Amino acid sequence: MRYEDWVLIEMDEMTLEPRTWGSCWDHFGARLVDLVEPSVGSLVLDIGTGGGASLYPAAKRVGPKGHVTGIETCESCFNRTSGEIERCRIHNAEIKFMDACEMSFEDESFDFAISGFIGWDNYFDFEEDKHIAEDAIMSEVFRVLKKGGIVGFSGWAKADASVIMRKLLLTYLPSDSFHISNVKAWSHTETKRGWEKILSKAGFVNIKTWVEEYDMVYSSKDEWWQEVVDLDWQEVMEYLEHNAIVSVAELKKQAFFLLNDYEKPDGVHQARNAVLAIGTKP
Ligand SMILES: C[S@@+](CC[C@H](N)C(=O)[O-])C[C@H]1O[C@@H](n2cnc3c(N)ncnc32)[C@H](O)[C@@H]1O
Repeated sequence: MRYEDWVLIEMDEMTLEPRTWGSCWDHFGARLVDLVEPSVGSLVLDIGTGGGASLYPAAKRVGPKGHVTGIETCESCFNRTSGEIERCRIHNAEIKFMDACEMSFEDESFDFAISGFIGWDNYFDFEEDKHIAEDAIMSEVFRVLKKGGIVGFSGWAKADASVIMRKLLLTYLPSDSFHISNVKAWSHTETKRGWEKILSKAGFVNIKTWVEEYDMVYSSKDEWWQEVVDLDWQEVMEYLEHNAIVSVAELKKQAFFLLNDYEKPDGVHQARNAVLAIGTKP
């Protein structure tokens, strides 16, 4: 082996920490694992693994004799996270390309199941506080979990960025615009009560739900704007500009004005609240 190759391997060994999506994802991913407390040597299912925010802490927690199986339907998330698992040689975790609605696992395969922010809009309307369809994911989770197994879920509750953008966009959108329902859906809030209903309908017991806040700090208003634009609002803003209702530049100016209330010496602070819900299969 050439010396240069050897040095590269050494350097790689030093950076074996998996790359994730960072910030609030890592924070709440680790929280979910802390709350569910998977025991050493246990088998954990991570539904909708994404960037691995809860898969990696779960793998650390269960240790070499345990195992974490992540599932994903997004191809780029799957490729990136499976690449990281391989690069970092995490031998007790894997990710499968699989839909949570139709899992290929045997009944009672896992001791714990966790899932961060996969969204329950297909099954439950949090504003109306009721199921709108048969819950295809939760029945599968219940099936593949062992008796006595523990589940933990998280979902987005109120976020400051959504509150600001919702307020601005709804001011300008014509009352008959089909974008109104999108704006409401993107800025909707999952609730403790809703998650209690979701878990109890599926048959879980010992349900506990609560809300926790994470303080996101953006170094500048521009950084905040970049993320907000990335977060679904671009299409609506372009619609408003295209129809000569209000320009994107004007929306940005107004958003920056509203952001003054959130500015501190170290940057723009925006709260992101997550609902956390745990339960047990009887
Ligand atoms: C918002 S991301 C969160 C990722 C990660 N759990 C976290 O907390 O950082 C939700 C992920 O769930 C995945 N997902 C959504 N529905 C799914 C399903 N039915 N089966 C498997 N994965 C799903 C999405 O592809 C996406 O990567």
